[in-house]
Formats: sequence, C-alpha cells, structure tokens
Amino acid sequence: MSDLSLRKKELNVKESSFIKTLKGETNLLPFWFMRQAGRYLPEYRKIRKNINSFLDLCFNPNLAAEVTIQPLARYDMSAAILFSDILVIPHALGQSVSFKGGVGPVLGSLNNNELNLNNLNEILSPVYETVSLVKKQLNSDKSLIGFAGSPWTVATYMIEGSSSREFLKIRQMMYKKPEELQKIIDLLVDATSLYLLEQIKSGVDAIQLFDSWASVLPEEMFNLWVIKPTAKIVSNIKAEYPDVPIIGFPKGAGILYPEYIKKTGVDAVSLDHTIPLNWAAEHVHSLCPVQGCLDPMALLVGGDIMISETQKILDAFSDRPFIFNLGHGIHKETPVEHVEHLVSFLKDQ
Ligand code: CP3
Repeated sequence: MSDLSLRKKELNVKESSFIKTLKGETNLLPFWFMRQAGRYLPEYRKIRKNINSFLDLCFNPNLAAEVTIQPLARYDMSAAILFSDILVIPHALGQSVSFKGGVGPVLGSLNNNELNLNNLNEILSPVYETVSLVKKQLNSDKSLIGFAGSPWTVATYMIEGSSSREFLKIRQMMYKKPEELQKIIDLLVDATSLYLLEQIKSGVDAIQLFDSWASVLPEEMFNLWVIKPTAKIVSNIKAEYPDVPIIGFPKGAGILYPEYIKKTGVDAVSLDHTIPLNWAAEHVHSLCPVQGCLDPMALLVGGDIMISETQKILDAFSDRPFIFNLGHGIHKETPVEHVEHLVSFLKDQ
C-alpha cells in the first residue's frame, strides 16, 4: 500500500459514519434527530426541573454536556448536537432573552445602537466549554454537531420579540426599512461567524445552520435575507476551516433548495417533511448529501405508519450519501418507545 492510501485509510478509520457520509460515502446510514436532547426525555426533564431559566442550562457546561450526551447514551445515534439554543446570539449581543413556560422565548425591546460584538465570545465561553467537555466524552466513531440559527431566523425573534405566526414586523421592515434590517442581519453574520469559528476551535466536527422561518419569503427576499447572509457565514468559516462540513436547513424552502445549495456553498442540506420526496431526490440529492426528513408527527404517532413513512424516505434517498433525520424537531409529547422502535428499525437496515 502506498503512503498516501495508508494515510487515507488511517484518516478514514478516525472519521465517523456521519462525516464520511457528508464527504460522499453511500453505504452507511448515520442518523440523529433534531431536538434529540429535550423535553420528551425523562432524564432531560429531571435536570431541567431543578433549573429556573433555560439559558442557565445552556450556560452550565457540565449540565449542558450531560444533556448533549443523554440521547446517545439511550439510543446510540451517530452524532450528538451541542445543547444550546439559537437565541444565545441575541443574548450575547445585548438584547434580553428569556424563556417562559407555555409561551416560548421572550426578547426585550430592540435598541439597535446598544447591540454589539464586544463581549460575545466572553458571554458565550460556557458554550465553548460544553463543546470541549462533550468532545472528551464522545467515542471517535461519534460526531459532535455545532450549530447556530441563520441570521433571518434569529432576526425574526429579535424583531418580533417572541415566536410569531405572521412575522408582521420583520416582513414590513424588509420592504419599508431594508437598510435597518440589513444592519441587524450584518451584525448577525459577524456574530454567527465568530460563534461558529469558536465552536470549531473547541472541537465540533460539523456545523448545522437552522433557518426555521426561511419559508415565509418571496423568491427575491429569500435571496436577500436567507441566501446572501448564509453564503457570507459559509465563506467566513470555509476561509479558516475548509474541511468542516456545513449543513444548511432552510426549512420549507421547497423549490428554492437547489438555488440555496448552489449560492450558499453549504456542503449538505437538511430537508423538511413537506418536500416531495421524488422531486427532492432528483433536484436536491443530485447536488449534495442530504439529511432528513421524517415528519415529527409520524414519530409521535409511532407504529406501522412511522415505519412505512421511514421506508419511503429510505427508498428515495439511500442510493446517494444520506443521513436519516426528522423534518423538524422531536415534539415534546413523543413517547421514548417510539424513538426506540425507529432506532432499532434504522439499525436493522
Ligand atoms: O437537541 C437539540 O436539538 C439541541 C438543542 C437545541 C435547542 N434548540 C434546545 C431547546 C437546538 C438545536 C435548538 C434550535 C432552535 N431554537 C431553533 C431552530 C430549530 C427549530 O426548532 O426550528 C429555534 C427556532 C429555537 C428557538 C427556541 N428555543 C424556541 C422557539 C423555543 C421554545 C420551544 C418550545 O416548544 O417551548 C426554544 C426552547 C428550547 N430550545 C428548548 C430546548 C430543549 C425547550 C426549553 C425547555 O427545556 O424549557
């Protein structure tokens, strides 16, 4: 064997099935689930009930590391996702963020002039410590996924002040005061790039960018507020870490997925459960590895329906590099037995 192929073999041994798939291998079926650490797990609820505020959990490295690993201890997924939240960024920029039971996130009024990057890495340093702690505890065949929200989605929370159905403020702003929105988005591009670069330095193996509200924009606005800022973040990361895979998740982007892939430079995309499978196989999976996309409701319902829906996804995607996941996060009412059933089905493939 030549030196080069020996070295490749060595590298391969060290790479997890998750990373190998992102780099193009087809015969593996890595899987993980969005929101795999969270309220559907009794061991998460046990830790959560002793902590007053959700952000305190995100900023407690020992507990956040424990929670990150909980789903792997139970189900042996291929990857762990860092336990944190997309809203640590507005918090670190100086906007107040709290999570109210039954309501969700509540953010303080936005005074653009007061937001700044000055203390960002210091405020987020507990998250970086969580990454190092998890990395030390994970076997080398498991990956650690770092993440952030994409600027558009984070800006929806910053501008609306809470979860929203209509996004009235930000959608008016993008027409009436685009230069004001641009300032916030530019700040988020810088903040998110710094945050993700530091996560990589601390040990994450791949990145996922969550754009949960990408679906509410007309095409031109999608280009301006979803694709452009994401492309800048990807290029900032690739300039320092060209080999760290980046997965984009422009949830609900539909036929704009191919344009998103081509223009942002992400290595892979996560598909949501509303995308037609055969269309995605032809027009998206031909461009890059994909991840997805079981409807979280099929997991909540469980049984034969869950398995037959899973089978349809495997039939559509397993001929190319594919990571099994959900189309959105696990719902908090999901029985742990259903997750167990799904995992044992996936492991039998
Ligand atoms: O396991 C994992 O996926 C890792 C951790 C993670 C959380 N949030 C923990 C969390 C990740 C990757 C996120 C991403 C996130 N956060 C997104 C993007 C993905 C998506 O769901 O669309 C968004 C939009 C947020 C913002 C956010 N955080 C909301 C709207 C809420 C309230 C949700 C609710 O149902 O109450 C949160 C809180 C949150 N983030 C929880 C968890 C486990 C629940 C809070 C708790 O335990 O009290």
